[in-house]
Amino acid sequence: MMTMDKYSNLNFNESPQFPEVNVYPPKWNFDNDKAWQIYRRAKREQWDEDQISWDKVKEWASGLDRKERMAIAYWFSLLSCFDNATPVFAYAVIKSFEFHLDTAVRGILTTITYDENRHNMVCGLSIQNTLPGFPLDLKPQDDLERKAMLNAQWVWWNGSRYWNAYLEAYKKYTFDVLFTSFMMGEAAATTVFTTMSKGAKNEEFSKVFKNTAVDETRHYAFTHLIMIDSAKNMNEEKRKLVTKQIRAGFVFLSLITYKPPKDFWKLPPWFTEVHEKMEDIARNAGFYIPNEKEKEEAWRQAVLRVGASLKRYGISMPAMPELGITGEEIKDINEDDFVPIF
Ligand SMILES: [Fe+2]
Ligand SMILES: [Fe+2]
Repeated sequence: MMTMDKYSNLNFNESPQFPEVNVYPPKWNFDNDKAWQIYRRAKREQWDEDQISWDKVKEWASGLDRKERMAIAYWFSLLSCFDNATPVFAYAVIKSFEFHLDTAVRGILTTITYDENRHNMVCGLSIQNTLPGFPLDLKPQDDLERKAMLNAQWVWWNGSRYWNAYLEAYKKYTFDVLFTSFMMGEAAATTVFTTMSKGAKNEEFSKVFKNTAVDETRHYAFTHLIMIDSAKNMNEEKRKLVTKQIRAGFVFLSLITYKPPKDFWKLPPWFTEVHEKMEDIARNAGFYIPNEKEKEEAWRQAVLRVGASLKRYGISMPAMPELGITGEEIKDINEDDFVPIF
């Protein structure tokens, strides 16, 4: 008996039929000047985490006591929840090829994947040179240490909830909504890292944050470009989704850039108390973390910046009662809603 070959009817005298959602055929388009500009800028602005003298960081850290080193490792562990974004953008790269987005847009997403890999390396190297093993493979010496380790681990666990939501988001949202959702995070990241680079006492950390801010500024420019290209064609429903995602961005990223809001986050009861203690210890050790007032100011600036752009295209800003900013009230953000990223 012969099995039917599903390819027995191919007509080689005609062009082949490609499946609709597939990375083939490779196609290129060379219009979309603005996207090409960002892509070229991304290549020019690449930097290498090995340009940072990690030996100097290690030497500096060896002059600190254990709690101070832990506080810095703690901060980078939390940052890594958001800078663990290599797979986030790698997934976006795959989708952008499957759906045949503009060549330059695919190129930009590829560079962001590499940027995020670098940011993630920086988190790992910072921990490795201050308190290796934190937060998973270290024996706590007292209750504060135990709670700080659990804080970091539970933040990561919330990250795993985010990851599930993110993967699902591609089934629910179109690319314009998805990429515009990144806007708030990129804007906040830009401000936070700029502030931290200016305040850092350690020269190497200052360099790290300065370089990271350059990347985040470019990521913001990308999300902004997507927004101005697509907002005019968005219907009311999509505009509302963007407003909701801007709020989700604030809720998600506030954990490290402000204070954890009640929505979404599932954290130990002692979280905030221990978190604030760790931040204070890090500050006293000379590791600059903006204080609450500066954090509020950074967010307010980010919100105003994003808000001004969105408003021009008829998208409303969500209310941010925490910052005293009025706008559309967004309730019931649940764990399925999380698309934003740093
Ligand atoms: Fe990043
Ligand atoms: Fe970013």
